[in-house]
Amino acid sequence: MAQDTLLVCILCRASHTEEVQAGLSEGQSLFNQLQAGLETSDEKYPIRLQPVRCMGACDRACTAAFMAPNKLTFILSQLSPTDAVPDLLQFSHQYMASSDGKVPYKDRPVTIKQKIHAVLPPLPTNP
Ligand code: FES
Repeated sequence: MAQDTLLVCILCRASHTEEVQAGLSEGQSLFNQLQAGLETSDEKYPIRLQPVRCMGACDRACTAAFMAPNKLTFILSQLSPTDAVPDLLQFSHQYMASSDGKVPYKDRPVTIKQKIHAVLPPLPTNP
């Protein structure tokens, strides 16, 4: 079964430091809070949360991406490690419910509308 995935860079350090857990990078803090949110979710099959070590957008921390086979890939940047969490969790439900990842713009949480760095089409499938 294909698995929708939320990648989160755990090495991201934001220059606009907010209140984060002591000693953790902002990216690790974002990852930890998303993990905690998914663990308390009612979703039977929550999105797969995967840590990554740098996505090449270090000057636009924090970074994350939603991806799945046959779906759009959403790359997000300049995410708050605290304020972005509820919207990322909400969008994970919307993304998983969509067959192609095309969650209507009007339905997207504010963070997703504001922090999209790029949207990539699905990879072409073999004939
Ligand atoms: S350290 Fe997070 S994108 Fe490079």
